Amino acid sequence: MSTLRHFLDLDRFDTATLRRILDLAAEIKRNGANGHTPLLQGRTLAMIFEKPSTRTRVSFEVGMRQLGGNVVLLSENASQLGRGETMADTARVLSRYVDVIMIRTDDPGKLVELAEYASIPVINGLTDTSHPCQLMADVMTYEEHRGNIAGRVVAWSGDANNVARSWVHAAVRFGFRLRLACPRPFRRCSELLEWAQSEGGDVALTTSPRQAVEGADLVVTDTWVSMGMKEAEKRHNELAPYRVDTQLMAQAKPDALFMHCLPAHRGEEVTDEVMDGPQSVVWDEAENRLHVQKGILAWCLA
Ligand code: CP
Ligand code: NVA
Repeated sequence: MSTLRHFLDLDRFDTATLRRILDLAAEIKRNGANGHTPLLQGRTLAMIFEKPSTRTRVSFEVGMRQLGGNVVLLSENASQLGRGETMADTARVLSRYVDVIMIRTDDPGKLVELAEYASIPVINGLTDTSHPCQLMADVMTYEEHRGNIAGRVVAWSGDANNVARSWVHAAVRFGFRLRLACPRPFRRCSELLEWAQSEGGDVALTTSPRQAVEGADLVVTDTWVSMGMKEAEKRHNELAPYRVDTQLMAQAKPDALFMHCLPAHRGEEVTDEVMDGPQSVVWDEAENRLHVQKGILAWCLA
């Protein structure tokens, strides 16, 4: 896959490169929307969405435009992808028109195929198994509020989904301790945990939300039913004990933060009291998607 600067998954990076991207994002954020040189003038981003999005869609487009670039949007149904054109051929064609591609899709294999056949950088805007842009924004947000995340304790309570998997990657690369509380049927992550262990990461799995959250610096959750998932009722029943409410937050450190990648299902994985409470930084987290993705775009196109 050559020397192209793809942004596929955090486990593919070394810590120094991820730190460089965060530094770039912070610098771009400090300079403000219009207060910097148009770093990406004349460059075009193609965005492929095979799943719905609000934050990713808007923050990538606004970010690209603020850096002086252009954007083209492709949805699965309004492009030939929906009629069976392969990712490989799509990659070859888009590489002749644009400078960088962001894709949100179900199968991580499609992301890899796109990156393999593109002659331009490819960015992962979420698959069924990861959401690395989100994690970059989350680490940025934590550090803005509380300083370096290395050595801190992060607790996840909920489904072992795509975002949780990226938290595992981030724990290893940024050196924080991660406690995942997930019901047994929804784990599907033994390989990932083996990887974390082999990399010297401190990642633990439990079925007890209280145990995971006790003494944590940060509590995180996400929807119980990710896009494309079935068996919503079964998931709701199994995941109900993992809801983040004020009682669960009280187990964490008094100055612990709460994060959620959004969209939230209020009253399900998180209560209004926590979402709207003083420990919640969910709006800063959403804002930082914009800044961090400008950093990612600038790094990819450097
Ligand atoms: N957090 C996130 O990626 O949100 P969207 O699905 O709205 O893009
Ligand atoms: N886990 C969620 C994240 C949405 C940004 C999903 O995949 O639907």
